[in-house]
Amino acid sequence: MKVTLTHIKADIGSLPGHTTVHEDVLNEVKRFLKEQSKGIIWDHFVGYVGDDIQITMVHDNGVNASEVHKLAWDAFKSGTEVAKKLGLYGAGQDLLKDSFSGNIKGMGPGIAEMDITPRRSEPFIVYMMDKTEPGAFNYPIFKMFADPFNTPGLVIDQSMHDGFKFEVWDIQEAKAIMLNAPEEMYDIISLIGTKGRYVIKRVYTKKEHGKLPDENVAVITTDKLSFIAGEYVGKDDPAAIVRIQSGLPASGEAMEAFSHPYLVSGWMRGSFNGPLMPVAMKNSKMTRFDGPPRVVALGFVYKDKKLTGPVDMFDDPAYDNARKLANDITDYIRRMGPFEPHRLPEEDMEYTTLPKVMEKLKGRFVHVDAVEKGVSKNSTGRDSD
Ligand code: 13P
Ligand code: 13P
Ligand code: MG
Ligand code: MG
Ligand code: MG
Repeated sequence: MKVTLTHIKADIGSLPGHTTVHEDVLNEVKRFLKEQSKGIIWDHFVGYVGDDIQITMVHDNGVNASEVHKLAWDAFKSGTEVAKKLGLYGAGQDLLKDSFSGNIKGMGPGIAEMDITPRRSEPFIVYMMDKTEPGAFNYPIFKMFADPFNTPGLVIDQSMHDGFKFEVWDIQEAKAIMLNAPEEMYDIISLIGTKGRYVIKRVYTKKEHGKLPDENVAVITTDKLSFIAGEYVGKDDPAAIVRIQSGLPASGEAMEAFSHPYLVSGWMRGSFNGPLMPVAMKNSKMTRFDGPPRVVALGFVYKDKKLTGPVDMFDDPAYDNARKLANDITDYIRRMGPFEPHRLPEEDMEYTTLPKVMEKLKGRFVHVDAVEKGVSKNSTGRDSD
């Protein structure tokens, strides 16, 4: 039987700034889905991270199913009405188009979905990040599926020993490439280290995989709001679905990839580098400098049209040290204020007001030789000509 996991997320309004979702909006999205989802999806869960509402769904309509996408879109529309009434900030922020047109791609919400062949037990983790971008998943997804120091299963589990295939997207040129790990590991790293451009979209097992050949086992949202809107309208806070166990990374191997709060871009105004802090869903209020960027992990199993769970995976003292380190990095890096490398480099600022500042100052730039001439004139007190 074909089964599809679909995860769709959007920021439809927050309290007071880009801090957190409002309970009434969350409840409206839940109410809408409870009443309208029958006959379209089998089961679902509504969660959140920071100011983003997240819908995890399971159904048999396949990926890109118009009715499933429309259900999520309409649920977000309905939630937006409540957000507007309450006067929440950025009500409907990520709903960039006026009306639904067949597919939610390119309309603002982030989407990650895959068709799966369900196993006897089908465990998976949904990771949801706020105040960062899709490329923030490059590092942890690589660690889970390609780094034996993170995932010893790559060495000691016979069915993982051949490695995995990585589908990497160039999101600037809208191109994709399939690369094999471990054979092409250095090529993979040389691309995905440029995380603002090359992003891991999907991971597949190889055809040699003993338990689950040629199967999609991870998928990440890659939607870029600025490409749709043409200007900065919030960072493209991403989410991912990662299947685990039986020939895939164990739950703890998938979780271990987040034990180090590596730097991601996003944070305040989508314009700063900062540490990714793993937190419980209830602790995902984005307070300090609208962050620091956070990741929430929800663990599910799927069976017979039902989702069981989730377990709030980072709601655990085992991640206290990662959070402490993230706070220490925050103290350190915040003192740089608007300077790089805390602030993002110029090319990442093109959707902010920085190009407008440059436009304003354009006429006042002169060649350095002219300045040097002036300096020598000033220092000698007389014209050197
Ligand atoms: P248990 O012995 O607790 O089932 O754990 C098995 C395992 O492989 C953990 O990674
Ligand atoms: P969001 O992308 O989470 O809405 O945040 C936008 C922002 O500008 C935060 O400072
Ligand atoms: Mg927001
Ligand atoms: Mg957000
Ligand atoms: Mg956003």
